[in-house]
Amino acid sequence: MTTLGTPLSPHATKVMLLGSGELGKEVLIALQRLGVETIAVDRYDNAPGQQVAHHARTITMSDPAQLKALIEAERPHLVVPEIEAIATSMLEELEAAGVVRVIPTARAARLTMDREGIRRLAAETLALPTSPYKFCDSLAELQAAIDAGIGYPCVIKPVMSSSGKGQSRLDGPADVQKAWDYAMAGGRVGAGRVIVEGFIDFDYEITLLTVRAMSSKDGADGQIETHFCEPIGHIQVSGDYVESWQPHRMPAAALERSRQIAKTVTDNLGVGLDGKPSGLGLYGVELFVKGDQVWFSEVSPRPHDTGLVTLTTQVQSEFELHARAILGLPVNTALRSPGASAVIYGGVEAKGIVFDGVDEALRVPNTDLRLFGKPESFMKRRMGVALAFDADVEVARQNAKLAASKVKPRVA
Ligand SMILES: Nc1ncnc2c1ncn2[C@@H]1O[C@H](COP(=O)(O)OP(=O)(O)O)[C@@H](O)[C@H]1O
Ligand SMILES: [Mg+2]
Repeated sequence: MTTLGTPLSPHATKVMLLGSGELGKEVLIALQRLGVETIAVDRYDNAPGQQVAHHARTITMSDPAQLKALIEAERPHLVVPEIEAIATSMLEELEAAGVVRVIPTARAARLTMDREGIRRLAAETLALPTSPYKFCDSLAELQAAIDAGIGYPCVIKPVMSSSGKGQSRLDGPADVQKAWDYAMAGGRVGAGRVIVEGFIDFDYEITLLTVRAMSSKDGADGQIETHFCEPIGHIQVSGDYVESWQPHRMPAAALERSRQIAKTVTDNLGVGLDGKPSGLGLYGVELFVKGDQVWFSEVSPRPHDTGLVTLTTQVQSEFELHARAILGLPVNTALRSPGASAVIYGGVEAKGIVFDGVDEALRVPNTDLRLFGKPESFMKRRMGVALAFDADVEVARQNAKLAASKVKPRVA
């Protein structure tokens, strides 16, 4: 039986989000609706999620001492990482000491914090199909790895990076130096190490949202079930998502294989410190597909940016699914309508920008918008998203893109 408290009372159920961007903001709203007391943490003030939470805290989340002090002061029941750049070994320590429960597990947060932990787990421990890869610490090692078998074309990425930062495709020897320099400039902490991957010539790529939740059947108390959302198709431009839609139609065999891969990796990430199944929550499993062949690419142990589309397509969005699953509640992954999302970029570098054309955007049939409320805009910063639903997924894609194009961010 799950019991929830009253926020701001001694019996509150308290959840702390580590990272409070647009994805965290929607998780926080879902938690608020269930009367959960929320603490939104980010590295800067007035982050999107901090604007909708009971409490806002600003710290350097990659600093173990700051993270420990905050968790010990707030004593949340659950800590929910929203980003990768967190002092995950401190989370493991606090989880082992019984101070807090980390979602889905502290181990999953550590393994997915950089590209190496999760890639080695998937390819070497779980024997899942992935692109051929090699980790390198210098330009010479990179060149040697390519020459020894990775070949061209290939992709290089800093081990600690997201949203395509520092990532590039190499088509021949002339690209190696430039790609290395770009990776060095684009990585976060731990700069210097990269992964080089053979290029997979996929037909399409999908995100398979996978939820580990307590059983919804009477009498099955304590049992964890795995649920899958309909596959989400998406388009990435220089490693960053610009458009997504759901469902992405695919052959039954490829879908079945995708689910097997997603189940294998989430079952493993869901193992708790005591070796027992835990790891409640939603995971975004990224897969490449060609015909009936499927490759594992990466996984987020949390809502996925391409899954913003579920705000308009599903009975319960990926954010509601995450909120419910982590609280031990049953979930419903049913599709309500096909639909699509299209990203709205800042396009300007300024603080406190304004958005023209919101009314025109919403005149496009069956559309909706999220403007994230980020205090500062950059050219390529994701500031909002347009959503559209339609019985025909292609119509939804056109309408989402049209609505997104009508929103014009500008300097105030
Ligand atoms: N080995 C690869 N072969 C082909 N395309 C790739 C490969 N690796 C990455 N990509 C493309 O780049 C995108 C971003 O790469 P990804 O590893 O998911 O980085 P991030 O963590 O920044 O999302 C992928 O969604 C895919 O479109
Ligand atoms: Mg990705």
